[in-house]
Amino acid sequence: MQELRINAERLWGSLMELARIGATPKGGVKRLTLTEEDRQARDLFARWAREAGLSVSVDPIGNVFARRAGTDPAAAPVAMGSHLDSQPSGGKFDGAYGVMAGLEVIRSLNDAGVRTRAPLEVVSWTNEEGSRFTPVMMGSGVFAGVFTLEHVRSQKDVDGVAVGDALRSIGYAGSGASHEVGAYLEAHIEQGPVLEAEGKTIGVVQGALGQRWYDVTVTGQDAHAGPTPMELRQDALLGASRLVQEVNRIARGFPDYARGTVGFMQVKPNSRNVIPGEVRTTIDFRNAKAPTLEAMCAELERAARGIEAECRVRIELRENTYFKPCEFDAGMVARVRDAAAGLGYGHRDIVSGAGHDAVYVARVAPTAMIFVPCEGGISHNEIESATPADLAAGCNVLLRAALHTAGGETP
Ligand code: HGY
Ligand code: MN
Ligand code: MN
Repeated sequence: MQELRINAERLWGSLMELARIGATPKGGVKRLTLTEEDRQARDLFARWAREAGLSVSVDPIGNVFARRAGTDPAAAPVAMGSHLDSQPSGGKFDGAYGVMAGLEVIRSLNDAGVRTRAPLEVVSWTNEEGSRFTPVMMGSGVFAGVFTLEHVRSQKDVDGVAVGDALRSIGYAGSGASHEVGAYLEAHIEQGPVLEAEGKTIGVVQGALGQRWYDVTVTGQDAHAGPTPMELRQDALLGASRLVQEVNRIARGFPDYARGTVGFMQVKPNSRNVIPGEVRTTIDFRNAKAPTLEAMCAELERAARGIEAECRVRIELRENTYFKPCEFDAGMVARVRDAAAGLGYGHRDIVSGAGHDAVYVARVAPTAMIFVPCEGGISHNEIESATPADLAAGCNVLLRAALHTAGGETP
């Protein structure tokens, strides 16, 4: 079985066909979670899974599970997967690669007539991106018991649409019972520059940074841009701008892979000759160590109080999401490393700056991830790109690690 390889052309072809759903002019995709584009991608995945002989089920938060029976029906399935939803101006490979790679593993085992002792499952998790709806990694979070179904179903997007209604509108409010998985493997592009810079094909992912997301409201007072003296203003956008600078200062000032980002901002009333009275914005803090992440957040609180006095505004910081830094299962990580070495791929250990569904699934099953390079380390961008050869290499590692975990049986 060591000579078994996936079909690189078929994997690439599936990715390119999937990328036509929500395709954007610059070569990316816009497949916001629980939209018509998300539905089309889910439908395509489910059709391909059934064509590969898999039984497809959908759970109440819309996670799609495509299962291949094992020779031991009592064994917990070995799952592989990722997500089909994207950022508003996302790339072809973020998430889609992990789902298509899992499907390609199944297709290749079918071609070779190889059975496994444990069942295999390919999973598409709902709303990994956390862009339209929060919390981020929503479907895997419900699966792992991090969020209740009631809580996430009630979450609303900026237009006031609730998750529960959006799920029903695309026909993916499933009734499939939750179930355990024996192990989980996720293939993903690195979304950063390390593998490409070092000329490595495979990232053996040790774990992922912890994250704390805030929803922020800066409140001042709408006033006329002409008659209002500068010293009397309560300019909410000035306050928000100072906050952006402080987020950047804090992230640059702390160790342990500190990251700080302000990616969303709504200004009210958003009129050129009105001093803004309200700004809604977001903060995304990350760190490899929980105590350092806490220290960053404490510094943020202090900075916000200072800006309130300086700009005569009020700043409300509301935690939206928190998860601590995670380490993947050492045994599963070793399997990924051994598979990469056995296949002769250059590889290195790496920590994920991005969150992934694997972070939550790791709370309920031994989990590991496989990274492959992406061009220039760019992701969450329509120009996101990866090579067919690297994507195939990562999928071969996934095949070998999944077979090792599920117990491959030669025909
Ligand atoms: O934000 C993240 O790390 C992931 O893309 N959801
Ligand atoms: Mn992703
Ligand atoms: Mn992403």
